[in-house]
Amino acid sequence: MTMIEIVNLSMRLTGGGEEVSILDDITLTIPAKQFVAIVGPSGSGKSTLLGLIAGLDAPSAGAIILDGLELGSLSEDELARMRLHTLGYVFQSFHLIPTLTALENVAVPLELAESPDVRSKAEALLHAVGLGERARHYPIQLSGGEQQRVAVARAFANRPPVLLADEPTGNLDTVTGRQVVELIIRLNRDHGSTLVLVTHDPILASHADRVVTLMDGRIASDELRMPDS
Ligand SMILES: Nc1ncnc2c1ncn2[C@@H]1O[C@H](COP(=O)(O)OP(=O)(O)OP(=O)(O)O)[C@@H](O)[C@H]1O
Ligand SMILES: [Mg+2]
Repeated sequence: MTMIEIVNLSMRLTGGGEEVSILDDITLTIPAKQFVAIVGPSGSGKSTLLGLIAGLDAPSAGAIILDGLELGSLSEDELARMRLHTLGYVFQSFHLIPTLTALENVAVPLELAESPDVRSKAEALLHAVGLGERARHYPIQLSGGEQQRVAVARAFANRPPVLLADEPTGNLDTVTGRQVVELIIRLNRDHGSTLVLVTHDPILASHADRVVTLMDGRIASDELRMPDS
């Protein structure tokens, strides 16, 4: 089954009166359960592409089809529902809600989805990321790596079939960053979800099933990797 279909996608923006091409005719089919690393130099369009897949922005041309639904055909409400149930998103900066505890942050998407047993589910998720003891702590009381683990637990809360992660290790030291990514990869394998991971780290990219390199808004290479090679 194909999970994410990106068809002739382009993104152009006007800045200072001039039109700038940010993504240029990207076509990419990502099957369910694939782990794809998106790499490429700064400014090549990686975050823009991820934001479009999440429906956070509308493309200038082309289409994104997520699990059979064309994002451009959805209303705002349908888009919000799709984001809640189909997608998890981990940002470079953790985007936790500062006035909520770790547990409450993880509970937000569960509550929005009107999930039963919110509290026990949120506790189990925090436990899974190794933060069972920190449930009552606020983001400011947690280290960067711990905050990112809370953000990962939150992204997985509704067990989304697709997880998007934009340099989730960007604000972390190498060791902590690697732990966070290993956690994402493990949760991804356990849940059988599709993972699209933007990273600058070639070692992280080497864990992926597939590495897509962007250059100046175009796909410069698209390589499938042998398992565990
Ligand atoms: N709202 C905007 N208006 C104008 N230009 C933008 C806007 N958003 C992004 N850009 C430009 O689009 C290009 C791609 O940006 P994007 O953030 O997708 O790159 P990236 O590959 O994620 O880079 P990085 O590795 O630094 O995060 C950059 O040249 C950026 O300056
Ligand atoms: Mg980026």
